[in-house]
Amino acid sequence: MSAEQTACMEDYVRHVFICTSTTCAEGDPFGLRLQMSRLLRERLGPEFEQRVKITKTLCLGHCGLGPNMVVYPEGVWYKGVRAADIPEIVERHLIGGQPVERLVLHKLGPRSLAMETLPPPLAAKDPA
Ligand code: FES
Repeated sequence: MSAEQTACMEDYVRHVFICTSTTCAEGDPFGLRLQMSRLLRERLGPEFEQRVKITKTLCLGHCGLGPNMVVYPEGVWYKGVRAADIPEIVERHLIGGQPVERLVLHKLGPRSLAMETLPPPLAAKDPA
């Protein structure tokens, strides 16, 4: 890995994994990903991809509850995410650092959720 790639990865504040497998695929996870990217671009600017990484992934092991996604470093698992939920996930969690509790399926253990160790909210443009 080059020094440039390493520096870029260190800039990531959050990493979202979106399940695109079997039953989750019925909920248009590719569309959710595009919507999330579009909103992040609006709020954080074109360089958002250096702050928030979005990765398509195969089955997360909770089929039938999806579309499911996981956000790190908080280790928050979301279930049943719909297009109408994406603006709140972007605003509250990806930018603000606070999980959207009504969609939470699971959280990693207390050490992973030590809030004092988590990144502060991202600097975002005012919503239009
Ligand atoms: S298909 Fe998405 S969790 Fe299994």
